[in-house]
Amino acid sequence: MLITEILKKKRDGFELNKDEISYFIKGLSNFNVSDIQAAAFLMACCTKGLSSKETTYLTYQMRDSGEKFNFAKINKPKVDKHSTGGVGDKISLLITPLLMAFDIAVPMISGRGLGHTGGTVDKLESISGFKIRLDYEDYFNLLIQNGAFMACQTDDIAPADKKLYHIRDVTGTVESIGLITASILSKKLVEDLDALAMDIKVGNGAFMRDLSSAHQLAESMAGVARESGLKMRIIFSSMEQPLGYKIGNWLEIEETMESLNGQYSADIRDLTLKLCSSMLIAGGLFDNELESGLELNKVWDSGLAAKNFVKMIEAQGGNLELSKSKYENYPEYEIVSDKRGFIQQIDTLYTGIAGIMLGAGRKDINDKIDYGAGIILNKKIGDTVEIGETLAVLKSKDKSLFDSPAELLKNCFIISDDYKKAPKLILDEWVI
Ligand code: URA
Repeated sequence: MLITEILKKKRDGFELNKDEISYFIKGLSNFNVSDIQAAAFLMACCTKGLSSKETTYLTYQMRDSGEKFNFAKINKPKVDKHSTGGVGDKISLLITPLLMAFDIAVPMISGRGLGHTGGTVDKLESISGFKIRLDYEDYFNLLIQNGAFMACQTDDIAPADKKLYHIRDVTGTVESIGLITASILSKKLVEDLDALAMDIKVGNGAFMRDLSSAHQLAESMAGVARESGLKMRIIFSSMEQPLGYKIGNWLEIEETMESLNGQYSADIRDLTLKLCSSMLIAGGLFDNELESGLELNKVWDSGLAAKNFVKMIEAQGGNLELSKSKYENYPEYEIVSDKRGFIQQIDTLYTGIAGIMLGAGRKDINDKIDYGAGIILNKKIGDTVEIGETLAVLKSKDKSLFDSPAELLKNCFIISDDYKKAPKLILDEWVI
């Protein structure tokens, strides 16, 4: 078989068979497929789409490109959460410490930034000393000791996805239902889970711009999940504006701690509780959200979740105090409104892009992230704004980077005389 023939077949819109997909994915591991060929494959998948059969084969081949966890000895329901990616989406960082208070195991393998969206792994890497690359023994010990770990994908965990993920990030090839399904589920099927809570983001800052395409993605994921026997609950949540107020790696760690200590925005609290409830119900710990919500509120409001966050970070070697001092006195740039009225809309895609321009994400595969860079929003949809009032504050260690993202971000705020309510947060929910 020739890789170029597989590429041409996909380019021309034909369905690839199991052997061709297997040959291609194996080629990624044994270096018979170059990055250039992988990029061509991904672009063809984006433009021509993947059938449900192709998506399932691709998911299984990517899953089998590495090892599979065996957590049989962990005598608790094993439940993870994954999001399709958003701007300011720090929910995984809040979920883990909340769930550490329950009799559930959360083996969380997270991703790095993808396209304009941020990644939990990059956020955790902003913490000095935090060990994100774990091995089997660490996974076990942390699940036994804390009931949770947060880690990155290593070369053992669906390595074919790891390679494709990096290439998709910088080649404009993220927005494909088949590729997103295979990427997420190949990793999740490795984790030996009892259930998965999926947060499918919908809106102008998401890969799925409207509910109907989000439903198509959910159908695609549900197809593979049913076939492989994975229980899944899907929450469709709005990404019509960034979640919370802070966007950027360390900034989102900061907002996580503020939120767990009682200074939270409504969207962060509501979505966190919704996803935690889904995980607890999927894990069989509660029958309904009323019961799970009651217990989760107690864990949050008593300060236990905030303590658990510190415990989790320290258990993986992180030093929050040292990190705080590292990002103090970062250069700032204020964006000021030249209009008065109500915030009607925030272009979330371009807000994410402005963050990348400041150094908070990668423009190319080998780019180094500025972990302290990012955006602090001062206004969200529905807020009033006066002329001269601050809309947002930019942060970057390189002051020369401020001009273009400042102009871009200013244009992301649509201000008018008509009041607009904040968009509905939870748009739909499916149980698979
Ligand atoms: N998260 C992933 O792991 N993969 C995607 O394609 C999108 C979000």
